[in-house]
Amino acid sequence: MMQVQITTMAVLAIVTLLLVALSGGGVGASGFRRTATAGGRYKLQSVVKEYANKQGFEAKLAVSPSSGNDPLGRDIGSLSFIARIEKSTRLRLYISDAAKQRWEVPQSIIPRPTLSSDLEPATEPVLAVTYTTQPFGFAVTRIATGEVLFNSTPPADGSAKFNPLVFKDQYIEISTQLPSTATLFGLGESTRSDGLKLKQGRTYTLWTTDIAALFPDIDLYGDWPFYIDVREGGTAHGVLLLNSNGMEITYSENSLTYRIIGGVLDFYFFPGPSSLDVMDQYTQLVGRPAAQPYWSLGFHQCRWGYRNVTVVKNVVENFRKANIPLDTMWNDIDYSDRFLDFTHDEERFPMKEWRGFVDGLHANGQHYVILIDPGIGSAYDDYQTYKRGLEQDIYLKTDDGKPYLGQVWPGPVVYPDFLNPNATPWWTNEVQLFHDQLPFDGLWIDMNEVSNFCTGTHCTWNGTIFPDGITSCYLQCTDSYTNLDEPPFKLNHFGTHEKLGHLTAAMTVTHWDGTTEYDAHNLYGMSEAVATKKALTEVRQKRPFLLSRSTFVGAGAHTAHWTGDNKATYDDLAYSIVTVMNSGMAGIPMVGADICGFYDMGTDELCSRWIQTGAFHPFSRAHTIRDNGNKELYLFPKTTVSARKALGLKYQLLPYYYTLNYYAHKKGYPMIRPLFFAFPSDPETFDVSYQFLIGDHILVSPVITANATTVNAYFPKGTWYNMFDHSQIISKGENLTLQAPWDVINVHVNEGAIIPMQEGALTSTAARKTPFTLLVALPRNSPLSSASGEVFLDNGEDIDMVLKANQSTYVRFKTAVDNKSGTLSSHVEHGEYALQERWIVDKVIVLGAESAVSVVDVNGKPSQVKVMHKEHNLEVSGLGLAIGKEFEISWTFA
Ligand code: NOJ
Repeated sequence: MMQVQITTMAVLAIVTLLLVALSGGGVGASGFRRTATAGGRYKLQSVVKEYANKQGFEAKLAVSPSSGNDPLGRDIGSLSFIARIEKSTRLRLYISDAAKQRWEVPQSIIPRPTLSSDLEPATEPVLAVTYTTQPFGFAVTRIATGEVLFNSTPPADGSAKFNPLVFKDQYIEISTQLPSTATLFGLGESTRSDGLKLKQGRTYTLWTTDIAALFPDIDLYGDWPFYIDVREGGTAHGVLLLNSNGMEITYSENSLTYRIIGGVLDFYFFPGPSSLDVMDQYTQLVGRPAAQPYWSLGFHQCRWGYRNVTVVKNVVENFRKANIPLDTMWNDIDYSDRFLDFTHDEERFPMKEWRGFVDGLHANGQHYVILIDPGIGSAYDDYQTYKRGLEQDIYLKTDDGKPYLGQVWPGPVVYPDFLNPNATPWWTNEVQLFHDQLPFDGLWIDMNEVSNFCTGTHCTWNGTIFPDGITSCYLQCTDSYTNLDEPPFKLNHFGTHEKLGHLTAAMTVTHWDGTTEYDAHNLYGMSEAVATKKALTEVRQKRPFLLSRSTFVGAGAHTAHWTGDNKATYDDLAYSIVTVMNSGMAGIPMVGADICGFYDMGTDELCSRWIQTGAFHPFSRAHTIRDNGNKELYLFPKTTVSARKALGLKYQLLPYYYTLNYYAHKKGYPMIRPLFFAFPSDPETFDVSYQFLIGDHILVSPVITANATTVNAYFPKGTWYNMFDHSQIISKGENLTLQAPWDVINVHVNEGAIIPMQEGALTSTAARKTPFTLLVALPRNSPLSSASGEVFLDNGEDIDMVLKANQSTYVRFKTAVDNKSGTLSSHVEHGEYALQERWIVDKVIVLGAESAVSVVDVNGKPSQVKVMHKEHNLEVSGLGLAIGKEFEISWTFA
């Protein structure tokens, strides 16, 4: 086992005071906010405790000198600095007030070792910590290479300008030096106008905000204080700051600076060395991504404005008529009575007819998801959900002990405090009662940043009638702001430095245990996701599916995510590709965008391009706003053709996606990956933002501009085969111009892969019943070559997704070829389940088989299979081999 080592000696013996320029006070991109110097710096006074086996230590830091009470507040006099090797691949560095417990992410949100948990015995060091005593700073190095990964001490030569540690009640500042060889990714969530790689000169604001995703480069729905740093040669490491308070992170030349308005510094370092290793190490801490049901990987249709059951029924029917796959139908808030959760409008969605519709979907192997919002309508005496919540006393409160009143779609609302242990049983009961009437398959939890159409510390409703669906505030709100609503350091909220409580619950609002929204705001969506996953699992006794707009790191363990309210533009299509990859890197791999755009109608051509891209995202859903006309895929001629083609391939690839879902759940690997994940030693891949890999092997190169007939795409070195016509590209590692007329999406598989596929169908349920094809991709012009792949199979909706006898099957495929012959063999773990389901491999396609084949043997015997060799491709069909039983197919070249 590898080990992380902590060196308690002050190896970086920079003990002299470094005169780091504090003038200007660490002015950020929008300099007007900080009027004074950031102030204090710390001195490491003493190491108070050393753990056995060099696995950590605790030290005291004292402020020296103090900046006094500068505009950002008073420096905290004494801090604890704790370094712990939690695992061989996880180093934790923690800094907080030595005298007082400060706010931390609750264990109920991210269960994790505490500072007093036992440490795993470690043997082989990977990372080391060193520190300077005055000014205090620490560095994390990779022992094997000596490379410094994080260094909070300002460089003596002035090559990066930043303050040493600053720690005040409402302002913490810490920076790291970064070498020019660092390439950073992550720090979401925001829509990025400048691609995937983080850019110097940018400040990333982390504050969960209900703002449309169409606005790039400002705070958005989620909070993901995690980045991956890929250094020269492709070695990656990850850095998580586990802190839920608002923060800004500025990437400057040679440094990265965190400015945080509360909580503690709780850094976790994950040494990689590959990006997938980083994801494994990171999700082991924050939570392995939730297993997703098989059906959720199929196509979903939604819109805001499906006003009655007949309309939704017709949409489902129209998909069938148009021969476009549809797995899941959705309803937005339209089904509800007065926009109240867990109610329905009996006129437009008569329960009998509605239930009949849902039963019909189920009979056809399809599924149904509905939306709920966290705001619980409080204006109606007959609304039992609200009343039961009042009885349980589970709403967020103002300082006068009354539920905090906000306004969302139902008018005046109160907000459940999902951190309150009593909220989950209440929520589960509400889900149960509604599910008893209508057996929905999943829940969409929207507006959970938490969204509020009003701003104010105390709001009341004077009882006047309000118009349906109004989004302007008509409550009577007062603003008795405190330093929580207006802390000394103003985050760039909404991109306009709005107050923290702008269009959300006020910061002074409290949770059940006195926790303020100031501290817990960024966890609202995550806490709702935790409660909703529990509720759905308990109620349905099947693998839950939920979709949340607001997320925190680790939310992937509970929920799927979508990129939010985008617009029908080519720019938004491009942004979606980046956000989807960023979400995967945050540990939320089940993600997609509103296909064809939420705002605006767009055009047939745009929608066609969008489905060509969105079909291949794990969560593939079309959705649009109620103000738009209908824009289902089948309404546009070009889009219809593209949808059949792109979704046709997606459905054939479902066994591959499902196996990626298994690895996401088991190891945290994103299903959709940036190219650098698979080709880290090729630095060109760091700059590829608008192509993506499905797993490690399938490259999607979408068109993201209007009127294009070609696309420029980067192909890492090797042989790539077009998934539609099996034509090939042999790349030296270069940008290529590919043909991409309106009906063409470029999807290529690379050498070395064996892809398990089934036949396309209109539902995943039907596709699952078809025989398998194994697509083997070999390098061209290479006499000795090999390929491998795997498939995980289970019933797609058991609560646990585990490899277990009679419950699931895992098969690994291998191909080895020389210039005379080739073999494809399988190695099966727990074949019983696949045997029981009678899954067979009927066809093998070998791409890159250089010459015609004279003999094909199956399990060592000549067989009656059909063999075709065309150009460089060999196709063997009529195999009828049970997947659950090991087999070997061998062939001899003529
Ligand atoms: C906001 C969501 O982002 C959007 O997708 C949804 O349609 C509306 N709320 C209405 O529920």
